[in-house]
Amino acid sequence: MDIFELIQTRKSVRKYQNIPVEKNKIEKIMTAAQLAPSWKNGQCWKFIVVSDPDTKKELIRCTNTFNQSWLGKEYAIIVACGDPGKSGKRNNKEYFMVDVAIAMENMVLAATSLGLGTCWIGAFDEIKIKKVLNIPDEFQVVALTPLGYPAKKEGVVGNIARKVAKSKSRKPLDQVYSMNLWEE
Ligand SMILES: Cc1cc2nc3c(=O)[nH]c(=O)nc-3n(C[C@H](O)[C@H](O)[C@H](O)COP(=O)(O)O)c2cc1C
Repeated sequence: MDIFELIQTRKSVRKYQNIPVEKNKIEKIMTAAQLAPSWKNGQCWKFIVVSDPDTKKELIRCTNTFNQSWLGKEYAIIVACGDPGKSGKRNNKEYFMVDVAIAMENMVLAATSLGLGTCWIGAFDEIKIKKVLNIPDEFQVVALTPLGYPAKKEGVVGNIARKVAKSKSRKPLDQVYSMNLWEE
């Protein structure tokens, strides 16, 4: 798959098969994160791959359970963390979010290329997650994603989520960028 095909293939997957993901695939995905660019190469990230069923259950309880009721069958939930102190701040912006997001997207694309599904999850209770996973104070939780083999068909909740978010729709290219100067 070339890079454009890969980008087109990626989508948020909200239904999974209850089967394990091979260790070499996890390592490839983590290598994709490891190779991401970051502020002064600070690599402020840390990813926790939660595959233990009991810990995963506890983690799912830390998400906004109504919207995320589709979670549970995936092999693991990856918790993406960043340490702001190991990244930078400029123009009032904290770059640890950017560092972690780039690494996360590398992971997501690597997972897609290996036939695995992911879905960025922003709806979670950070304080509870930090307690469950024993995450040090200086780290913040930036995102979660399930990781696993997608089910053959998307489920009901996934279909609703895609409709509500109009997930297939994208702004036309002339609204995505302009040449030389800002244009509406
Ligand atoms: C920062 C961020 C937070 C998101 N949070 C959630 C979430 O909490 N639950 C969920 O089901 N999807 C979540 N999504 C997935 C988006 O709904 C999805 O990416 C968007 O609808 C486009 O669909 P696609 O990923 O299939 O292309 C999130 C995506 C991003 C980038």
